[in-house]
Amino acid sequence: MSKYTLNVNGEPRTVDVASDTPLLWVLRDHLNLVGAKFGCGIGQCGACTVHIDGVPTRACLTPVSSVGKNRITTIEGLAPNGGHPLQQAWQELDVPQCGYCQAGQIMTVAALLKKNPHPSDQDIDAALAGNLCRCGTYLRIRAGIHRAAEIAGKESV
Ligand code: FES
Ligand code: FES
Repeated sequence: MSKYTLNVNGEPRTVDVASDTPLLWVLRDHLNLVGAKFGCGIGQCGACTVHIDGVPTRACLTPVSSVGKNRITTIEGLAPNGGHPLQQAWQELDVPQCGYCQAGQIMTVAALLKKNPHPSDQDIDAALAGNLCRCGTYLRIRAGIHRAAEIAGKESV
C-alpha cells in the first residue's frame, strides 16, 4: 500500500491503496464519489469516464499511481449544484432512462462542448462512439447536447 494525494474536484484527497488500484475504485470505494460507474472494466463502455486535466479518461483503466498531481474531475465536481448546462438540459429533456451510463456520457460531452460549443450530430456521434447506453437513449442524448449548447450560449451572453 502507498499513500497518494490526489486533486479531486479541486480538493486534495489522500488515499492509502495499492499502486495498481484503478482510479475508479479509489473514487467509488475510498472517496465515496459514486457518479462514475463500473460497466465493463476494460475501457469499452465509457460508464467510468472522468476528466483528468480536462481530458475524458476511462477511470477503470487508470492506475491511481499514474495520476500524480493532475486534476481529476468527476460528475460530482463538474459544476456547482449540478448546474452545468448539460445537467440542466438532461433534466429538462428527461434524457436518462436507467441512468447508469449517463455520468460517463455527460463527462465525455462536457469536454466536447469546451472545444466545440455547437457540435453537429456527426461531431456528437464521433465524440460518444465509445460511450454505450444499454437503454438506447442516444437520440435524447443528442437532443440534450443541442439544448445544452443553447443554454450555455444564453448563460454566456
Ligand atoms: S467501466 Fe470503464 S470503460 Fe467500461
Ligand atoms: S440510460 Fe440506461 S444504460 Fe444509458
